[in-house]
Amino acid sequence: MESATGPVITGLDIGSSKVATVIARKTPEGVEILGMGICPTEGMRKGSVVNVDATVKSIRQSVSEAEKMTGLPVSSALVGVSGPLIKSFNSHAAVSVRNEREVTDTDVARVLDLAKAVELPADREILHVLTQEFIVDDMPGIKDPRGMTGIRLDARVHVVTDDLPSTRNLVRCVEKAEINIVDIVLSPLASAEAVLTPEEREVGVALLDFGGGTVDMAIFYDGALRHTFVLPLGGGNITADVAVGLRIPAADAESLKIASGCAAIQKVRRDELVELPGVGGRQPRPIRRQYLSEIIEPRAEEIFTLLRKEILRSGFEEMLGAGIVLTGGGSRLDGLPDLGERVFHLPVRRGGPIGIGGVVEVVNSPTFATAVGLALYGAKLAESGMGRAEEEAPGGWMARVKQILSEFF
Ligand SMILES: Nc1ncnc2c1ncn2[C@@H]1O[C@H](COP(=O)(O)OP(=O)(O)OP(=O)(O)O)[C@@H](O)[C@H]1O
Ligand SMILES: [Mg+2]
Repeated sequence: MESATGPVITGLDIGSSKVATVIARKTPEGVEILGMGICPTEGMRKGSVVNVDATVKSIRQSVSEAEKMTGLPVSSALVGVSGPLIKSFNSHAAVSVRNEREVTDTDVARVLDLAKAVELPADREILHVLTQEFIVDDMPGIKDPRGMTGIRLDARVHVVTDDLPSTRNLVRCVEKAEINIVDIVLSPLASAEAVLTPEEREVGVALLDFGGGTVDMAIFYDGALRHTFVLPLGGGNITADVAVGLRIPAADAESLKIASGCAAIQKVRRDELVELPGVGGRQPRPIRRQYLSEIIEPRAEEIFTLLRKEILRSGFEEMLGAGIVLTGGGSRLDGLPDLGERVFHLPVRRGGPIGIGGVVEVVNSPTFATAVGLALYGAKLAESGMGRAEEEAPGGWMARVKQILSEFF
């Protein structure tokens, strides 16, 4: 069977609350999940490393769990990055077609090089250049212009930049855990790979990856990435509010939120009671579940309101025919889609990884969206014979065009 011989790809999602590892095999259809590992971490805050040793330890633990499950050693992985230090913008460039009025690889490389030739501060680097569309003379919406006839070639791209010191810290942690980095990928882009359908990307959708420290947003329209944004608030803020509001330790607040929390007060019956853990030897006591919801809802509403502002700012609110898709561990909170529909005035669905084979049940949770997405992204990269290492190898631009086109398709 061909699927039994495909290359093994590992996705490593180093999040603010956990490190998730997904080992998959590339198949002609996509990927087949072989196994996973998950380990909580204290080493990261809002996408940045705050404790190297703790992060390295969690990576090792998570990877070794996945290795045990699959019986396969992990030597390399695709790694996700996120956090408020990621900045993205749209860019545009035009060139005249050189050769016999037929667009060639060279023209595509030239226009994309120009589109990404933007002045960046010394501590930033380009992480992705994602092609939105090419325009040949006056014809917009072209995905691959090679071979077309025209005198002018335009490119519209979405450029994602990251903070060098922050990424270097993450890279160092992965290297210390003895894993080679195949590629670094913007986390919500990986999550989108795992949870969105091609139709949703076509008609317009905002993916919200609700994590512990951040909510990452990626807006797709007409099949291409249009806007990305990282909000430095997440499930951890909800837990902190519960801890303060009920005067209980953070760990108890976390379990209470997961077991009984609800982001939509109107969904909770008046007579529902939940057990509040006793602190310092005191007896546990019942509280109204509505009371817990009164703490959670305002924070969740604040988070969604800030994201809605960003959607309005992006100018894409009218183009979200497929509404909002919620993923990430934080999306599992009861009532979140209800609250979302009220705040965004759009249809909201929860999404976990789809379009995968193998032991799908072990990653069948929004918590694994990024790690599964990284494996899917890796499979696409392998398909085009590319990785970041090759991109930077001499021989240069052709490899880059391939990468850019592969990111687009
Ligand atoms: N069943 C659940 N109900 C409610 N919240 C949950 C549930 N499971 C996980 N969470 C919350 O999800 C958050 C963690 O989500 P996730 O694992 O996606 O974060 P992360 O990827 O580690 O963080 P980030 O993406 O911000 O770096 C935590 O705040 C946790 O409380
Ligand atoms: Mg995450």
